[in-house]
Amino acid sequence: MLSTTLNRSGARIRTLTAAAALALLTVFLAPAVPADASAPLRQHAAARGKFIGAALATGPLSNETQYRTLAAGEFNQITAENAMKWDATEPSQGQFNFSGADAIMNFAQQNDQQVHGHTLVWHSQTPTWVQNLPATAMREAMRNHIDTVAGRYADNPALVSWDVVNEVFEENGSLRTSFWYNTLGQSYIADAFRYARAADPDARLCINDYNVEGINAKSTAMYNLVRSLRQQNVPVDCVGFQSHLAIQYGFPNDLQQNLQRFADLGVQVRITELDVRMQMPRDASKDATQATYYRNVVNACLAVTACAGVTIWGITDRHSWVPDTFPGEGAALIYNENYQTKPAYTAVHDALAGGTGNDTTPPTTPGTPAASGVTSSSASLSWAASTDSGGSGLAGYNVYREQGATDTLLGQSATNSTTLTGLTADTEYQVYVRARDGAGNLSTPSATVTFETSAGGGPGGPCTATGTVQTQWNNGYVVQPVTVTNTGSATLNGWTVTFTLPAGHTLAGSWNATLTTSGQTVTAKSVSYNGTLAPNAATSFGFQVNRPSGNTQTPSGYTCASP
Ligand code: XIL
Repeated sequence: MLSTTLNRSGARIRTLTAAAALALLTVFLAPAVPADASAPLRQHAAARGKFIGAALATGPLSNETQYRTLAAGEFNQITAENAMKWDATEPSQGQFNFSGADAIMNFAQQNDQQVHGHTLVWHSQTPTWVQNLPATAMREAMRNHIDTVAGRYADNPALVSWDVVNEVFEENGSLRTSFWYNTLGQSYIADAFRYARAADPDARLCINDYNVEGINAKSTAMYNLVRSLRQQNVPVDCVGFQSHLAIQYGFPNDLQQNLQRFADLGVQVRITELDVRMQMPRDASKDATQATYYRNVVNACLAVTACAGVTIWGITDRHSWVPDTFPGEGAALIYNENYQTKPAYTAVHDALAGGTGNDTTPPTTPGTPAASGVTSSSASLSWAASTDSGGSGLAGYNVYREQGATDTLLGQSATNSTTLTGLTADTEYQVYVRARDGAGNLSTPSATVTFETSAGGGPGGPCTATGTVQTQWNNGYVVQPVTVTNTGSATLNGWTVTFTLPAGHTLAGSWNATLTTSGQTVTAKSVSYNGTLAPNAATSFGFQVNRPSGNTQTPSGYTCASP
């Protein structure tokens, strides 16, 4: 059976039955090298030249034997979850208290672990006496605090790095209007790094933030700030990516690429506060997805030479900040409340051990991809997900173009959908997917989908639109940027982008385009200042959406036409 449909840009889509795809089946599997199941995480990490760390809380560290045993045995790096923050170390001006910080340092020294100091200058967990100071006194209080706290451990070889400033950005990439910024202006950031260098010349000095794991407005602002500070010889040595992830919001598939662009600035990068929360209750399928996220983060760090390691924000679900901070969510760590390992532990272990394990069972065959939003250079694909029973978890999917004997890998996706870009105009593509598990086993191929890209070039020629979810929360999200690119050879005079909002989602605002809706279909037209696009030029717009609480869908099917 062959069915052919036309999409709105005139591209043809048809689907083949499974028979043709099954003919492609030639699977060759390299023999798996068994990981040493008994070796602790730290041993594998050290063998890879990385650290694997955990945030430690002083309460369970002094009260719970199992906590101490795992903290010492499994991790070669630790971060104080709260004990080195300002409210703990200098609750009143000039009155320092290092009881918790020293307990963490002593534990690390006894167990041959490196310590990442967290954190010197932050808007949160900082006493009100600091927040109320006038500018000159606030700058002096900051200098004295950094000098005293970083200075205390400057000669301690276990203390290797500091988060000098934490969370200085808003989600849109502007500097956070914290009391630091409001009182001192942005110069407080450079000053903090200079004071820290003076206090501990040997420590790596880091800037740390959340929601900067993927390439987005916030991470790009951080990138630009780090580059500019270093150009001014401000001693920024390292960038921390907190990585507080949630399975319902999707994995930042460009994490490795993002880490690499920072590494290319000459800084060390590190994953500083990894946890992967889920909507409660826990179940086996959520655990498996969570394991995939952990594996992907560890693998991204392993793939980037300048990535020093991964710190997990806690040890056990018994003591995690998640349930207190995100109501209804939890189970974010690699040990459960009873200190038993979860699939996420195995994922971290096997990734550090080389990602092989003993799993030789491939995932099930994925569904036939469905193509949508086909333009002259891009197409969106989605397919029914595979499952994996071999123990290593499902790492993602490979997307292939069928071309005689030499099928080409068009892309990889961590989820059961992807958007292919860089396609050739006016060309027929036959595409299939194979699922990939954590041990590298590939499923048999799905059936193929065939689509034809639309013609390129010509006056008022074609364009593409791709939307990126910049940030999302329980009942809403921001898509920014929607990048509109002129892929033709003539200047465009005006463009029209359409996309589809999932059921129940409503527009809450937009910028840099005029949006109208018809049912769930949104039409975005260029405005006076961004409608003219030279060949290859791009512009962007953005919008915000309200959605039902707990729904995790985001828009799809972006198409672009001119005018
Ligand atoms: C959290 C701790 O885990 C909690 O115990 C505390 O109540 C609040 O702070 N970003 C950071 C960390 O940089 O310091 C935060 O830690 C989590 C978010």
